[in-house]
Amino acid sequence: MGTPLPTIIDCDPGQDDALMLFLALNAPELDIRGIIAVGGNVHLAKTARNLAMLVEIAGRSDIPLYAGCEGPMVRKLVTAEYVHGETGINGLDVFEPEIKLQVQHGVDFLIEALRAADDDEITLVPTGPLTNIAMALNLAPDIAPKIKQIVLMGGAMREGGNVTPSAEFNIYVDPHAADVVMRCGRPIVIFGLDVTHKVMTTPARIAKIRGLGNQVSEVSANMLDFFGIHDSEKYGSLGGPLHDPCTIAWLLEPTMFELKSCNVEVDTKSELTMGHTAVDYWHVTGKPKNAMWAHDVDAERFFALLTERLALYG
Ligand code: RIB
Ligand code: CA
Repeated sequence: MGTPLPTIIDCDPGQDDALMLFLALNAPELDIRGIIAVGGNVHLAKTARNLAMLVEIAGRSDIPLYAGCEGPMVRKLVTAEYVHGETGINGLDVFEPEIKLQVQHGVDFLIEALRAADDDEITLVPTGPLTNIAMALNLAPDIAPKIKQIVLMGGAMREGGNVTPSAEFNIYVDPHAADVVMRCGRPIVIFGLDVTHKVMTTPARIAKIRGLGNQVSEVSANMLDFFGIHDSEKYGSLGGPLHDPCTIAWLLEPTMFELKSCNVEVDTKSELTMGHTAVDYWHVTGKPKNAMWAHDVDAERFFALLTERLALYG
């Protein structure tokens, strides 16, 4: 293994964000410099508390945690309690974490950390609305060269939308922020619904995780039991799509995914298709290919990696 990858995570926990965090927090391949909460699945006060609880359960009180933006740059915040429950992390019994968030605003931390970094050094992993990333880029454009890559969960092409007929939740909540990120000129890797809907939390997969018998695996199985309820009913599927861990799984084992270089743009104009990710998969526009679009994944390898890494918490 080479030098651990300097990484900053931005998320809106969320049960799938939680599994993303558990996958990241005991990965020797990653040097996590900080984690920022954003308003998204539920309001910031809860995503920030959920972040602290999860990092405490994972035993990583060494990582500084921050609260970022409460809501989108332009539009009104839309939350998703109907998927994640009132706490945003239903399945986990809420407790008062010992870990306290830093006083510094998450966007200020992001700007400071990037300014202190070398060019192409920091990997950003956002798995909620992209507000914090976009705000940092707008406030301090000089940080862009410091970003090695942005590995994000968001968007949809063949799969259609999950919050409107044409938009995925993270992009829909803050389309203006997503537009800033898509135009930032740095390498972007996008894990949208086209690939996340191929990694479903079936009962057999949850049972395997529960069978690992440590606290993190128990908490994970309980959260995934709840997380799958809404999407199972909506899609008639066995379990729900495990969106956010795809980002970290790619960093740890990229060959389990198939990516294609495409132009990706975000609709910020039409109310009907607000937040739609226009993925030029067949290069019909001739526009610059600004992103790598994930379009396939080996689901068995994905869950094997996740289960293997969760077992290490034992
Ligand atoms: O559309 C799925 C995305 O929205 C995931 O990141 C989930 O956690 C929610 O944030
Ligand atoms: Ca999320």
